[in-house]
Amino acid sequence: MAKITDISWEDFSALSLEEKRPYLARYAGDGMPYHTLFAQQFDRDILERLCALSNRIRFINKSKEGALYLKSVLAHKRAMLYFSQPSSRTFLSHLNACQLLGLTTSSVRDAATSSEAKGESKIDTIRTFSSYVDLIIMRCPEKGLAEQSAWELSNSERPIPILNAGSGKDQHPTQALLDIYTLVRSFEEKGGLDGRTVTFCGDLLRGRTVRSLSYLLTNFNDVKQIFVAPKELQVPEDVIAILKQKGVRYEIHDDLKAATRESDAVYMTRIQDEWDESKGESAKIDTSRFKFGAEELALLGKDGIIMHPLPRRDEIATCCDHDPRAMYWRQMRNGMWIRAALIASTFGYEKELMNCGY
Ligand code: NCD
Repeated sequence: MAKITDISWEDFSALSLEEKRPYLARYAGDGMPYHTLFAQQFDRDILERLCALSNRIRFINKSKEGALYLKSVLAHKRAMLYFSQPSSRTFLSHLNACQLLGLTTSSVRDAATSSEAKGESKIDTIRTFSSYVDLIIMRCPEKGLAEQSAWELSNSERPIPILNAGSGKDQHPTQALLDIYTLVRSFEEKGGLDGRTVTFCGDLLRGRTVRSLSYLLTNFNDVKQIFVAPKELQVPEDVIAILKQKGVRYEIHDDLKAATRESDAVYMTRIQDEWDESKGESAKIDTSRFKFGAEELALLGKDGIIMHPLPRRDEIATCCDHDPRAMYWRQMRNGMWIRAALIASTFGYEKELMNCGY
């Protein structure tokens, strides 16, 4: 078994994402991740097990007895939420997922209030947090920090798991999990997710949810991906290289109406202008054709769905909000359930929850 304690940081960081995967799995060998850092850790078997566990946790939580049982499952554990970038949904859904399972939580939401402001390195800061808790859920602007933190902690005297809740422009694996859960649920009584067409629209260059979800979709059979964006914000080469390597059908263009007509799911994203090097750069790009409104809604099939990781600006018109195909509200709530499933699995409670009497 590949152990993260048997490899130096230099050798580990030089591996491809697929090669890193076994080092990040639970030593118990059930295939579930220990550290959750990127989408490449999830294959179809794990995705299906996490969706099943989310449904199970949802069901158990319906009765008071079940909810109290869930609260006992990880009542002996503590989690820390370290969010040095803005967040509403990801923070609150992880927090509530922890609370559902009984974990005690603490948080730092602003690096300016931690000793980083005194010049402490980020890795020292993470090691400090690890002294007090059993899990760190972190969101940060730096691409590789979650990964380096995972290696550092596994090789320290406090080896605890890291859960990446968004790393820069790079990856957002738990968002992609909730997106997959939403897609699986939406199509489960309509023939499943295999063979579907998913359109991504908006800022595909800097949207980390797009990179993670595009990869997860490659685990399903014959799912076509369409990328609709202004050319300045089109999907990056590394995402396309994976699709090519896996033989996935894809298209890249700028016609949202045409894409909507052939899509089962349209995944809208906002312009990520926090990454503009000189302020207001993105404002010069014409994004008017990359918004989903009444005309696009009329072109979407009756079983089609509209998704968005949120927050939205004006890329989905509010006139879509009460249409049964608008899935973004349910998508958000699905996040709490699948994050609870992931946290329970991280600590090895998948089997117990699947088989408990509730
Ligand atoms: C996304 C993110 O932070 O990457 N939001 C989220 O987690 N739901 C998308 C975004 O901010 O546009």
